[in-house]
Amino acid sequence: MLNRWLLAVLGPVSAAATRLFIADYGGTLTAISLTARDDNYTATVIYTTQECAPNPGWLTIDPSESVLYCLGEGLGTDTQNGSTLSSFLINADGTLKRVKTDTTISGVANAVVYGNATTQQALAVAHYNGSAVSTWFLHGKGEFSLNQVFPFTMPHPGPVADRQNGPHPHETILDPTEQYLVVPDLGADLVRVFSWDQDTSDLTPLEPLKAAPGSGPRHGAFWNPYGLGCATGCPTYFYVVSELAGTVTGYEVTYKPNRGGLSFREVYKAPSYGILTEGKITLPSEVHVSPDSQYLVIANRNDSTFSIPQRNGSVVVSDSLTTFALQYDGTLLWHQTWPTGKPACRILHKAPSLIQSVSTGGSIPRHYSINSAGTLVAVGNQYDQNVAILLRDPSSGLVGKEVVKIELTGNVTCVVWDEETSVNTFGY
Ligand SMILES: *[C@@H]1O[C@H](CO)[C@@H](O)[C@H](O)[C@H]1NC(C)=O
Ligand SMILES: *[C@@H]1O[C@H](CO)[C@@H](O)[C@H](O)[C@H]1NC(C)=O
Ligand SMILES: *[C@@H]1O[C@H](CO)[C@@H](O)[C@H](O)[C@H]1NC(C)=O
Ligand SMILES: *[C@@H]1O[C@H](CO)[C@@H](O)[C@H](O)[C@H]1NC(C)=O
Ligand SMILES: *[C@@H]1O[C@H](CO)[C@@H](O)[C@H](O)[C@H]1NC(C)=O
Ligand SMILES: *[C@@H]1O[C@H](CO)[C@@H](O)[C@H](O)[C@H]1NC(C)=O
Ligand SMILES: *[C@@H]1O[C@H](CO)[C@@H](O)[C@H](O)[C@H]1NC(C)=O
Repeated sequence: MLNRWLLAVLGPVSAAATRLFIADYGGTLTAISLTARDDNYTATVIYTTQECAPNPGWLTIDPSESVLYCLGEGLGTDTQNGSTLSSFLINADGTLKRVKTDTTISGVANAVVYGNATTQQALAVAHYNGSAVSTWFLHGKGEFSLNQVFPFTMPHPGPVADRQNGPHPHETILDPTEQYLVVPDLGADLVRVFSWDQDTSDLTPLEPLKAAPGSGPRHGAFWNPYGLGCATGCPTYFYVVSELAGTVTGYEVTYKPNRGGLSFREVYKAPSYGILTEGKITLPSEVHVSPDSQYLVIANRNDSTFSIPQRNGSVVVSDSLTTFALQYDGTLLWHQTWPTGKPACRILHKAPSLIQSVSTGGSIPRHYSINSAGTLVAVGNQYDQNVAILLRDPSSGLVGKEVVKIELTGNVTCVVWDEETSVNTFGY
């Protein structure tokens, strides 16, 4: 029903192809071609490589160089340099050519490209186990070299909660103005904030955001309701999902003058599952603002909300993907179209409200990505070793049925759309 309704909204889909890269703990990095003819989606393996083995954990695409960075976690290693950073050139046909692999301090979790594209670009890598961020000079065409290891210390003397034995940075995020790096630290209950030197790419720590004790901030997403073109005085928000508390917290962000940092004021907090459910322990993994800039989407692990009956009578348990409508004025409804023209920047009331919870098509959705058209969501279900492709209607924000399931040979850790270098995308 929902699928038919979504298709009616979206109109007929012509044949098109786009690509995905998938990392799994089994050691494989997989390139997938996704094609669609009407509502018949087909996923085909283009290429696989073990060159990020033994445990690929994260993928970052640098579209300006057509380079894919793969972080190799090195599960269970307690050696100082137990992880790896590998770079691959993305060929026009979706195959990959490895350029370089280097060892890094342990526990790589996530990476982001930062810096000035015309002068010096760098890669910042969060090390969960290594309790640090490392930065790498990018020399173009996938070449890189270590710049800096920036170790973190705990702001409080001992663990507040389990898994808070030390700083555990989990993500590196660029703010929308690309002046700051923010780093949620699950172990230290901080979102650390850095600026960097334009010439050396070295990080300078600034005043962090203090999250609730024991909450374990994991991933975050910025939101500019009026876009970046809006003149000064327009609001910026930052949403953090906290893994240990199972919450989503919204902050109003203020930019200090002279690149002096960010200040945060909490404006909203809710369970990341949307509603409080007795006995449920949800572990939010990933959060994004949708490409249409109207919705906040969160993947929740371990809530076992859905049961998917199989043809042979067995049942597969699935976790949830929740969608919240981002509201900036209490009088607006969630399906309100975005205002045009110069906004009045005064915010009367804002709170994301839950509009939907859907099945991710499997257990422990470690990661998900929305395509740039906002029409498809790829969810990596870690424990079921699959990626489910779900339809999404960008105007209502509703996520619909699964159109194809990609089975992998290891626990899935990361899935990214390769749109900048793909020939075609599912745009409308
Ligand atoms: C869907 O597409 C695949 C591959 O092109 C084809 O083998 C299959 O028959 C199609 N299924 C339907 C229901 O059209
Ligand atoms: C890093 O991992 C090793 C091996 O699991 C563990 O012994 C060590 O305590 C971890 N370090 C931190 C800071 O969690
Ligand atoms: C880890 O790597 C760094 C940088 O390459 C190196 O200086 C250091 O000696 C290595 N440590 C170990 C224990 O191998
Ligand atoms: C990048 O560097 C160039 C050359 O120094 C400079 O002209 C430009 O303004 C810089 N861009 C940003 C966004 O800082
Ligand atoms: C997953 O949820 C169950 C309750 O349904 C709970 O017993 C378990 O501890 C949770 N797992 C984690 C890792 O929190
Ligand atoms: C039923 O099919 C699922 C895959 O859809 C499989 O994992 C499961 O083992 C099967 N169960 C039985 C009882 O055959
Ligand atoms: C892989 O998935 C299985 C469930 O299928 C789970 O028991 C195991 O802990 C997972 N291991 C990792 C490293 O993700």
